[in-house]
Amino acid sequence: MTIEGAIGVFDSGIGGLTVLRTLRKSLPEESFVYLGDTARVPYGNKSPETVLRFSRENVAFLMQQGVKFVVVACNTASAEAVPVLQEEFPVPIVGVLEPGVRAALKATENNRIGVIGTAGTIRSDAYQKRIRELNPKVKVTARACPLFVPLVEEGWTDSDVTRMVATTYLDDLRDEGIDALVLGCTHYPLLRDVIGRVMGDSVTLVDSAVETAREVRRALEADAMLRSGGTPDLSIYLTDVTPNFTEVGERILGDKIRDVRLLAV
Ligand code: DGL
Repeated sequence: MTIEGAIGVFDSGIGGLTVLRTLRKSLPEESFVYLGDTARVPYGNKSPETVLRFSRENVAFLMQQGVKFVVVACNTASAEAVPVLQEEFPVPIVGVLEPGVRAALKATENNRIGVIGTAGTIRSDAYQKRIRELNPKVKVTARACPLFVPLVEEGWTDSDVTRMVATTYLDDLRDEGIDALVLGCTHYPLLRDVIGRVMGDSVTLVDSAVETAREVRRALEADAMLRSGGTPDLSIYLTDVTPNFTEVGERILGDKIRDVRLLAV
């Protein structure tokens, strides 16, 4: 692992490009290797054992690429696998859960926090547990929003259907009186406007990616591993290259995608 080594990022698919986008913005001189497990997505409805097995394979692959740091962009894998991965691998690993939790605790004034995510993330209770561990006074209301992922991948980030789905999922969260809502899934920041409109101005939407990027910067700085100068590189590996990947991927990443390599699993 060298200072020149890239930062490895993995996700169950291409949603994690939202996290990569934020990381590149906040660490513009770093190189990145992104692995999207598109052949096995979604992780959100799989068993925790399977999510852990896939996550181990993903980190092992990123380590073969000589990465100096790993970011688990997938919330489901962050909730179900990160503590085990951190014990098993000799590379610093951060998930998006811990930074998201800390940001939500900072944002809430009335100690009522909402968390939305995939079925797996919400079922794991990981967000809820961690919030309560750090502040037992907080009341957490969690809600799985499984239809959000396919809506984003379809590009329907602001359609009538999406607004209706958001209202159906989020109405009772709003009635709970939460004042901070963790967008606990890679895809949800792309629905920020719709979610914000349903929740209203009094609710702070917490994008874990922003906090995660801060955390990565702090950790690299502390270990004197922050790169400066040089031309940053981006390699993207997918376990299945789907025909519409470039179109959807570029929309999510907010940049051109030039080269995608296939990793057979
Ligand atoms: N990347 C996943 C997450 O953030 C969403 C897609 C999936 O279910 O795999 O939880």
